[in-house]
Amino acid sequence: MLDKPRLIEIAFPLKQTSLDSVHEKNVRHGHISTLHIWPARRPLAACRAALIATLLPDPGNAEERKKLLEKLGGRIVQVVKRKKLPNGKIEEKIAEETVGGILHWGRESSPDLDWFREEIRKAYGGRAPKVLDPFAGGGAIPLEAMRLGCEATAIDINPVAWFVLKCTLEYPQKLAGQKRLLPPFVLKDRDFMESFFKAQGFKGALGRTQLEKLGLGETPQPQLAGLKIEEATLEADLAWHVRAWGWWVLQKAKADLERFYPVVDGKPTVAYLWAHTVKCKNCRALVPLLKTRWLCKKDKKRVLLTMEPNANKTGMVFEVDANVQVKGGNTAQRREHDKLLGVGTMSRSGATCPCCGTIVTMEDIRLEGQAGQLGAVMTAVVVDGPNGKEYRLPTKEEIRLAAEVENELAQVFSEISFGLPEEPTPKGGSGASRAFSVDGYGFDRWHKLFTPRQLLALGTFAKHTRDTRNIMCNEGYLPEWVEAAQGHLAMALDRLADRSSMLCRPDPTPTQSGVINTFSRFALPITWDFIEGVTIEAFSGGFLGAAEWVAKVAEQAKNYVGSPQPQILQISATRGCPNNFDIIVTDPPYYDAIPYSDLMDFFYVWLRRTLHGLSSEIDAVFREPLAPKWDHEKNDGELIDDASRFGGDKGKSKEAYEDGMFRAFQACHKALKPEGRLVIVFANKQPDAWETLVSAIIRAGFVVDGSWPIQTEMGNRTRALSSAALSSSVWLVCKKRPEIARPGWDNRVLEEMHENITTHLRDFWDAGIHGPDFVWAATGPALEAYSKHPVVKKANEPGQLLTVPEFLRHVRRIVVDFVVGRVLSHNGDAEAVSGLDDLTTYYLLHRHDFGMDDAPIGACILYAVSCGLSDSALANQFDLLIRTGGQAVAEEEDEETGAEDIAAEPEEGSGSTVKLKSWHQRQRKSMGYEAPGGRLVPLIDQIHRLMHLWKAGDVVKVDEYLDTKGLRRNALFHQILQALIELARTGSEERSLLESISNHVAARGVTVEQGQGRLFEG
Ligand SMILES: C[S@@+](CC[C@H](N)C(=O)[O-])C[C@H]1O[C@@H](n2cnc3c(N)ncnc32)[C@H](O)[C@@H]1O
Repeated sequence: MLDKPRLIEIAFPLKQTSLDSVHEKNVRHGHISTLHIWPARRPLAACRAALIATLLPDPGNAEERKKLLEKLGGRIVQVVKRKKLPNGKIEEKIAEETVGGILHWGRESSPDLDWFREEIRKAYGGRAPKVLDPFAGGGAIPLEAMRLGCEATAIDINPVAWFVLKCTLEYPQKLAGQKRLLPPFVLKDRDFMESFFKAQGFKGALGRTQLEKLGLGETPQPQLAGLKIEEATLEADLAWHVRAWGWWVLQKAKADLERFYPVVDGKPTVAYLWAHTVKCKNCRALVPLLKTRWLCKKDKKRVLLTMEPNANKTGMVFEVDANVQVKGGNTAQRREHDKLLGVGTMSRSGATCPCCGTIVTMEDIRLEGQAGQLGAVMTAVVVDGPNGKEYRLPTKEEIRLAAEVENELAQVFSEISFGLPEEPTPKGGSGASRAFSVDGYGFDRWHKLFTPRQLLALGTFAKHTRDTRNIMCNEGYLPEWVEAAQGHLAMALDRLADRSSMLCRPDPTPTQSGVINTFSRFALPITWDFIEGVTIEAFSGGFLGAAEWVAKVAEQAKNYVGSPQPQILQISATRGCPNNFDIIVTDPPYYDAIPYSDLMDFFYVWLRRTLHGLSSEIDAVFREPLAPKWDHEKNDGELIDDASRFGGDKGKSKEAYEDGMFRAFQACHKALKPEGRLVIVFANKQPDAWETLVSAIIRAGFVVDGSWPIQTEMGNRTRALSSAALSSSVWLVCKKRPEIARPGWDNRVLEEMHENITTHLRDFWDAGIHGPDFVWAATGPALEAYSKHPVVKKANEPGQLLTVPEFLRHVRRIVVDFVVGRVLSHNGDAEAVSGLDDLTTYYLLHRHDFGMDDAPIGACILYAVSCGLSDSALANQFDLLIRTGGQAVAEEEDEETGAEDIAAEPEEGSGSTVKLKSWHQRQRKSMGYEAPGGRLVPLIDQIHRLMHLWKAGDVVKVDEYLDTKGLRRNALFHQILQALIELARTGSEERSLLESISNHVAARGVTVEQGQGRLFEG
């Protein structure tokens, strides 16, 4: 393609992409996220939209553009969603969704997608364009490139990601459209064949006839007179072969493991509940570390684990109370009663010994753990009764068996390459390492994160998975089939491991679906009371379900018929790739947000054991005991800001990350054709992180010319906003800067930027982009004026350059003024806010977006920086913010033992939150009289001072204050006052005080330069 503007540089179906991306989060069956855990996978809808809009040229006229956007994203319609509330009432909500387009899950196989494939080929002169993702991770971007008929190259340094990419892209593409006979053993299994025929449309009598033909009929079938019976095929695709061999592995594992999961009273076991234990430092009793004793708390099923010290007070005697009564007159009382009733032994300070009341502190527990002195006790067993789940105490036999399993481990692991996973777990600490606390409690080897039975099960499944290799070869499977099937079974084994560690928790939601997996958060925090599923049964935490999830993803192979073969490389992005790429679309790691490699070593150790010997390529990639971290000799490795890899030197770690990212962008520059485009996803909302990476992009030779903030998460208003960091990602569009580009001058660059973004701001606002996203959306178009020059000089300061942070400060101020202007005058007129001080500007932005609720620190830092302030100045000097620690965490703390044990979820934004201080919490004597740093006294401080004076009932002082500050004639004062009235809750003291002041001012008569419209409408 010649260097034409791309659709993404002019327009983008932003809202449709956001809606469909959010919707995709609810999709489970067949989605690549269910193949294997990979942190921060981007939604396929967003990747597809970005790829198409980057690959296709802009049509050049508004009408064609509109048509193209609609074909891509469809139309937005409003629908009424009905939801049944617990009280039986039906709640109706108006929601928006898309109709048409190819972004919504399920519409990717619509005929319109073929149209786009064709258009893309046409745009590239009839060939498949080459697309690179140098940080491919879980593969969302290259998968979509492959779907669109592009030649996709996926690079990731991590071997787990590399193998997941092979299973996501390479195997399905290789075997797309291919079928072969099912292996003979499943032809004898009635259940399996019934599902197989059903999937082909042979249901009911038709299905039974097919089963008859295989000799699997239960009763003789009546002849279906006159009906021509179609012959079902026994040829099956990759997905069914994965199911078939998964079935085989399960049968073998069942035979080995069944005796360790005894069935008591004819009721199959669903799961075992455990608690870690510690010896009381005072009385030496064995203390179970329980966060809660509720086993089940549903409306009609209320089961509690009760406990009493045993006769000699050396430990506890448990009982199960399956009929706990509800007590309390209202919901709050009932809740409080339940809370007290279910209280465990753990609290923030540590564990309370039920025998002597001594508190075994967290530090004591840590030390005991490190000395190998933590134990575990089985507290209850969940079984499948006639009316659903039942809870009972474990039998002696069950307790004995759970311990006895240990004796079997040596044998099983002697049959597996590399034996028991003895490799070390990551060390906990600050920064990226905050995600890990297991090591601190002595769980310092990967095998220690599993019960002996979980280890035995994983070893047994790994062993039988490996055994399928030879058997498949003997059955005549071609090597690519063997590798693909083995690969998918290894994915199933990883799914099993994810649900079979001591970090799994029982699902506390009313649906009580079973086992909450290890990676429900991207962290490895210690879990005191945990659940152990039954790996050989079809319940949550079983292998059968794991294999089915994986097979469902393999079914997607049919969509890649005719797609060019993808290339998957396990190398560092800094090394680059020699191909001439048409576009590069990538989603790089962000500083210390997610410690991918350390986390994914959980899976690495199992994959390495399951896959060893499958191919020399795989063995080479998995040659080291753990995935690559940082190679000091080569000065290369995983790009993540983790000081522990640099002997604790934070500066060095940051520098290595930033330099690495620069080298990766440089490699992108080299790998890209002159007219190519680079699209980078930014999910980090820290302004300085953004500034550093943008500087690196510009330094590497790119011009930034567009950005789109795509929303990917949704929730209620506060929730969505409080996780704003997670709720959207900014897709930044860049092209190569011509070599002849010359340095620019700051005055001209700023002027051009101002012109560029004014129209964009209006468009973004009208498109409904609000909050922090608005700032990010504006940044892309603004950067074009700046980044088209290799450097921008300051006209009035010879020898000085306008840096990216300085430039972005100008941009943000314009954006913020626009927003506050919109809020105050409804037309975004920057004039409306001219003269408004920084603190009041911040207050209005914050209050407008988050009210008086918890707000995410990321968004607040961005707003603060945009107003020339900092979050710490707002909290400490201006006394305007309080740190609240985070809604997400606060919710969990109910259940958790203490903040230090909750390894912060590494996705930024979830750690801490802040809140605006209310007027009455702002008690400093100087407020409204002087401002920190000799600034002008902010209007918001003056208004809050007035409120204090009014509340004190001293009208004389109020008038004096109004006069000294010249507020009566200050138009902004009137506007802000009115705005605050409308922001305050109806009936609140705040509102009534503000109204009284407003009425008082009006009653005395004033002349203001501007009228007062209604503010904050809608
Ligand atoms: C944000 S994730 C990519 C997620 C991906 N877009 C998806 O949808 O799953 C960033 C990836 O960069 C990888 N990475 C980190 N350092 C790297 C390096 N030096 N070279 C290549 N990949 C690297 C990590 O392993 C991780 O998978």
